[in-house]
Amino acid sequence: MAIDPRFPNLHILDHPLIVHKLSHMRNKSTSTKTFRQLLKEIALLMGYEITRHLPTKSEDIETPICPMSATVLSGKKTAIVPILRAGLGMADGLAELMPSARVGHIGMYRDPETKRPVEYLRKLPSAKDRLYILVDPMLATGYSAAAGVDVLLDHGVAEENISFLALVAAPEGVQVMLDLHPKVNVYVAGLDQKLNEHAYIVPGLGDAGDRLYGTL
Ligand code: URA
Repeated sequence: MAIDPRFPNLHILDHPLIVHKLSHMRNKSTSTKTFRQLLKEIALLMGYEITRHLPTKSEDIETPICPMSATVLSGKKTAIVPILRAGLGMADGLAELMPSARVGHIGMYRDPETKRPVEYLRKLPSAKDRLYILVDPMLATGYSAAAGVDVLLDHGVAEENISFLALVAAPEGVQVMLDLHPKVNVYVAGLDQKLNEHAYIVPGLGDAGDRLYGTL
C-alpha cells in the first residue's frame, strides 16, 4: 500500500493485480462487458484490503476431529453504500466479498448551474454499530464524495465509521475530502495527475458511468 505525504487520509492500494486490471479499464478500447467485470474484480480485491482490520473474536466450535476455539468476525456490521450510478459497479464486487453486508443507496446529480451535487435518493440501513463503506469509482472534484459523507453523518453514522472507496482519484478531490472530512479514510487504486477543465480526471478512464453501462 502506498501513501502520499500530502494526504494523510489517503491509502493507495497499488497491488499488482489491482493496477494491472485498472490499466485495462483505462484503455479506451476495453469493452463495456470487460470494464464492468474488471470494476467488480477490483472492488473485491480492494474490499479485501480495506477490511483487513475488522475486529474478530473467538468462538468455540467442533471440527470433525476435536473441539477448538475458532476466529470469527465480531460485532461490527457492515454497510456498502454506492453513490448512483457508477458506484453500483463497485458495490457488486464488495457484496460478493461480504454477502451479509447491507446495501444502501445514495442518488445525486450535478446541478448544471452551481456544478454542486444535489441529493435525490437516500435509502440506508440503520447506523447503529455499523461500518459504512461509501463507494464511487471516480474521486474527481470531491464534492459528491463529501456530500455522500454528509448524508451518512446526517443519518447518524460517526465519521470514523465511514470509509470512502474509489478507483481513481485526482489530488483536488482528495484535498476536498481531507479538508471537509479528515477522519474518513479514503482508499483508491490510483492517484492521477489532475482534473481537466471539464472536471474529468487526467489521465483517468473517462466517464465511469457511461463506460460501465455503455451509454457513451
Ligand atoms: N466522473 C467520471 O466518471 N470521470 C471523471 O473523470 C470524473 C468524474
